[in-house]
Amino acid sequence: MPGSPPIPAFLYGTAWKEDRSAALTELAIRAGFRGIDTANQRRHYFEAGVGEGLAAAYKAGIVTRRDLFLQTKFTYRAGQDHRLPYDPDASLTDQVAQSMTSSLEHLGTDYLDSYVLHGPSSHHGWGEADAEGWQAMTKERDAGRTRLLGVSNVSLRHLEQLVAVHGEAPAFVQNRCYARLGWDREVRVFCRGHSIVYQGFSLLTANQDVLRHPPVIDLAQSLSATTAQVIFSFARSVGMLPLTGTSDPEHMREDLGSIDLALSPDAVKAIEGIAG
Ligand SMILES: NC(=O)c1ccc[n+]([C@@H]2O[C@H](COP(=O)([O-])OP(=O)(O)OC[C@H]3O[C@@H](n4cnc5c(N)ncnc54)[C@H](OP(=O)(O)O)[C@@H]3O)[C@@H](O)[C@H]2O)c1
Repeated sequence: MPGSPPIPAFLYGTAWKEDRSAALTELAIRAGFRGIDTANQRRHYFEAGVGEGLAAAYKAGIVTRRDLFLQTKFTYRAGQDHRLPYDPDASLTDQVAQSMTSSLEHLGTDYLDSYVLHGPSSHHGWGEADAEGWQAMTKERDAGRTRLLGVSNVSLRHLEQLVAVHGEAPAFVQNRCYARLGWDREVRVFCRGHSIVYQGFSLLTANQDVLRHPPVIDLAQSLSATTAQVIFSFARSVGMLPLTGTSDPEHMREDLGSIDLALSPDAVKAIEGIAG
């Protein structure tokens, strides 16, 4: 496993791409994305298709494996349909190992950059199953099959309990980010205090009202940018690593263009205060 992982400024999300997963993954890499997010959860993702897209990009000489940040997820039985990447009768520890083996096969690699627990077993807190799953994921990291670990769809309570139980914070949190919840302020504050990189998804789809907010439209116009670019630039300004799942080549270019868009501190403060 090579040196320390480059964490790119954007992650390209591969959910809901079905039989376009390979072509869109390759297109995203051609457009300039270097971070790919997927999951071994056939219900919402086609991880093997993502692997085909990676193979096509390698074959075309656009990138090598080392240029990419590859992230996938372990998903509990309750989040899966019948197309399971593990034996449902195996222990959770074995399910994690089986799912990891299958992900590495799908993605044509012998290591991941990040392995994420797709979501805890309960909304209420970090339970026994989560502790077992996390320990199994830690074992995978210690064995060199992933560089870093993450957790998704978590509350502040989950994170506090995870750190208390395991004595270690994850490298990543991946959450849906609603402006009306102060852009997930509580969780982001915890992340900042524990050197966790916060990955935000549904930044556009969960915040349609922000995209229609007249001051955001005016700000975008004054910067010759789109409102989507303003939101992604805002996300980065407050320390997030944003995801986009666009299927549109023009939007891919536009989303990546937001990396060079600088917002003033006043603009960042105004957007942060819009709804939360
Ligand atoms: N951990 C989890 O439980 C979880 C849950 C959901 C998602 N995710 C991850 O996050 C990724 C992204 O999901 P998401 O919910 O943020 O996005 P998404 O649902 O994939 O879609 C983004 C939407 O925004 C539009 N869009 C993107 N760029 C745009 C632009 N520049 N201008 C206008 N519209 C634009 C897209 O339309 P076009 O396609 O037409 O551009 C699309 O409708 C997923 O693929 C997945 O990897 C994780």
